[in-house]
Amino acid sequence: MYNTTAFLYEATAAFEAPEKTCDEIQGFFADCGIEPPGLLGDLGSGTGLMSVLLAERGWQVEGIELSPAMLAVAQAKSRALPAPVQERIVWRQGDISRFEADPDKPWDGAVCLCNTINHLAEWEQVKAFSNSVFRALKPGGTLILDSDTLDTFQGFFHHGPVVVWDDGKHRMTRACEFDADSGRASHTATLEEYAPHGLRLLSREAMALQYHRETELFTLFTQAGFQLAQAVPYNPCPKLYRGFVPKLLWILRKP
Ligand SMILES: C[S@@+](CC[C@H](N)C(=O)[O-])C[C@H]1O[C@@H](n2cnc3c(N)ncnc32)[C@H](O)[C@@H]1O
Repeated sequence: MYNTTAFLYEATAAFEAPEKTCDEIQGFFADCGIEPPGLLGDLGSGTGLMSVLLAERGWQVEGIELSPAMLAVAQAKSRALPAPVQERIVWRQGDISRFEADPDKPWDGAVCLCNTINHLAEWEQVKAFSNSVFRALKPGGTLILDSDTLDTFQGFFHHGPVVVWDDGKHRMTRACEFDADSGRASHTATLEEYAPHGLRLLSREAMALQYHRETELFTLFTQAGFQLAQAVPYNPCPKLYRGFVPKLLWILRKP
């Protein structure tokens, strides 16, 4: 996943206004009485975009990410950060559907953003994820996550090849197929480089994304022990998602 395209992730798939998104997330934590310098888990931390912004705002951050390539981008970025910010972040490779946090350092909160939960394609993974996060949080701890709506899948993850990056050195093309019966989207990224005699294929990577019904997610989070504090329609990419609200933002508290 993202093995060969991690270096383009922030330019092609992340938040349009990351600082604003981070402020909004921080606002939701504040509503729950959770403030810096609390300890936050960043689940599926990717290239560390949110981890870094949160650490710059004074949070301690523990990121868990499956893809070594995404982690490598995060680590490279981190080297340019001021030492106090770097010191507030720890990233490790791991699977968010089965992880154990340090019982001596329970989290005040956790984020799982940019439809990372839709990367957990099997329902058993979502269940295990929910239980793992619940265990990792302190009582009163809060999980904030976004999940894609059905509209996103139908409107966004079903199209032929579209060029999403072309800087004269590399070209990346995405194509997606959505199966309405299963709610599964298959997403293929093709990376090419410009060579003297035309484009040369570097990689073709496919990944699965799964639409999870909101009612089923609600039941699952409740069964794990969470209480729903808020669920709000959420659009962190208004230019990209014109005309429909792509996500639901869940604010879930451990009693
Ligand atoms: C859409 S990206 C979001 C990255 C980051 N949360 C952000 O907001 O920019 C999804 C990330 O989740 C990671 N991921 C997917 N499945 C995972 C798993 N089971 N455990 C850990 N990370 C996972 C992917 O490698 C990818 O970096």
